[in-house]
Amino acid sequence: MRKEFDDLKEMHEYAWRLIVRGTVDKKSPARHPTLGTIGISGMPELRTVVLRAANQNESYLEVHTDVASKKIEQLKWNPNVGIHFWFPSKKLQIRIKATSEIKIGNLVKKEWEKIPNISRISYGTLPTPGTKIQSSFAYEKPANFERFCIIKININEIDVTHLGARHTRALFAKNTQWCGCWLAP
Ligand SMILES: Cc1cc2nc3c(=O)[nH]c(=O)nc-3n(C[C@H](O)[C@H](O)[C@H](O)COP(=O)(O)O)c2cc1C
Repeated sequence: MRKEFDDLKEMHEYAWRLIVRGTVDKKSPARHPTLGTIGISGMPELRTVVLRAANQNESYLEVHTDVASKKIEQLKWNPNVGIHFWFPSKKLQIRIKATSEIKIGNLVKKEWEKIPNISRISYGTLPTPGTKIQSSFAYEKPANFERFCIIKININEIDVTHLGARHTRALFAKNTQWCGCWLAP
């Protein structure tokens, strides 16, 4: 574990390395971030997702989901999202503010083709996710390409907190070319 950070660039690079690892290492804590949206009623909505892509150069993340899930309805109404990561062994928290876009149809065909049949059933549940059902297994899971979508998460801000020998916290923002500034932790 890092003792502490005193260099903004180093902290920013370190945070991205940890995030990107989640896309290739199933055991990484970055594999399963929490995605926050704003519910139609204005209440926050949080859920665990799988991190499918992370691109530092273009500052975006990607998550796969079902077009018929509640989060998509929420994102159409308000595209702002939060993403949260906690790396226990590194004692590092990452909080992201972002704006999302939803990709469907031809734009996601290539990714759909890479998804094994066993996993495709995550996209197409009947009745649609969140619908009340009569008993615990009163649903079906056909695979349905038309229900598959990618949430592209275009990052605006990354807030990193490290609980080192001394605590440090930094904010990196797109509108300052990610050069960052220290915050009181
Ligand atoms: C470990 C884990 C990974 C998950 N990964 C995803 C995912 O990648 N995409 C997704 O839509 N839901 C995923 N889920 C389910 C969501 O947490 C959530 O229950 C579901 O998407 C419905 O959310 P919504 O009603 O807010 O749309 C995952 C759940 C767990 C426990």
